[in-house]
Amino acid sequence: MRHLIDITDLSNDEISRLADTADRIIADRQAFSNVCAGKKLATLFFEPSTRTRLSFEAAMLELGGSVLGFSSADSSSASKGESVSDTVRTVGCYADIIAMRHPKEGAPMAAAAKSPVPIINAGDGGHCHPTQTLADLLTIRREKGRLGGFTIGFCGDLKFGRTVHSLITALARYEDIRFVFISPPELVVPEYMKNGVIRRNRLTFAETDSLEQALPELDILYMTRVQRERFFNEADYIRLKDSYILEPSKLRAAKSDLCIMHPLPRVNEISAKVDDDPRACYFKQVENGKFIREALIMFLLGLM
Ligand code: CP
Repeated sequence: MRHLIDITDLSNDEISRLADTADRIIADRQAFSNVCAGKKLATLFFEPSTRTRLSFEAAMLELGGSVLGFSSADSSSASKGESVSDTVRTVGCYADIIAMRHPKEGAPMAAAAKSPVPIINAGDGGHCHPTQTLADLLTIRREKGRLGGFTIGFCGDLKFGRTVHSLITALARYEDIRFVFISPPELVVPEYMKNGVIRRNRLTFAETDSLEQALPELDILYMTRVQRERFFNEADYIRLKDSYILEPSKLRAAKSDLCIMHPLPRVNEISAKVDDDPRACYFKQVENGKFIREALIMFLLGLM
């Protein structure tokens, strides 16, 4: 039995297979409409979500399966003190596969140790978000035609942004990528990422606090929201929340084939005026997320 807790649980070959399958689903959705008939997905979300939970549910429904679950800890027996391990042992009696989001780093890993069915980490605290990374990789592959040979800028909250940590970890295994980390000093990439991934893989990178200076050299810009829910101090959040706001005027200096990404939800960091720019790819990410989650469900259930 396989789980997906961290993006490194998948080899590059497996990621390619998942992306190939997602491409096939996009080309012919009807052909996959019965693949998971009789199978059930449980979504256990101890933390809020729109895209991840609903895209998992839409993915399973489009594959002909069924869904059950809860969307907040308050509506589950976690509110009575039940452990994550007991919760997944219980839900494993009802469902064939579980997607779990939890505010505590490591909770999905602890769940996997006791689960009778595959566990998918749908985001654990500030740690990682591997299925968002699969959506991001599919988007990059479909937009750029390759996973490598580009300069990618990560902008915003690089300290708490779990999607950033997962995507850096994934891209570290591909060739010829230059990373530019754009953040205020308080929100730089954490040391465990710098030592465990960036320095260990001898990644080529630069750090700056200036989006304007970095923008012209980028092939991909990955914007992120300042993660209010991870701050201990509201005053710090308010001081930092609008550090970067991408406006159409700033994009004049960017490449004509720049790919603008954001895992969403956004707050202020990308102006809605950018949405009509052909370089805006963030709603394509949303759609790609559903298709790659379909491929992942099939993979973990042994159906591809
Ligand atoms: N990208 C993402 O994880 O969005 P949600 O929090 O809405 O699931």
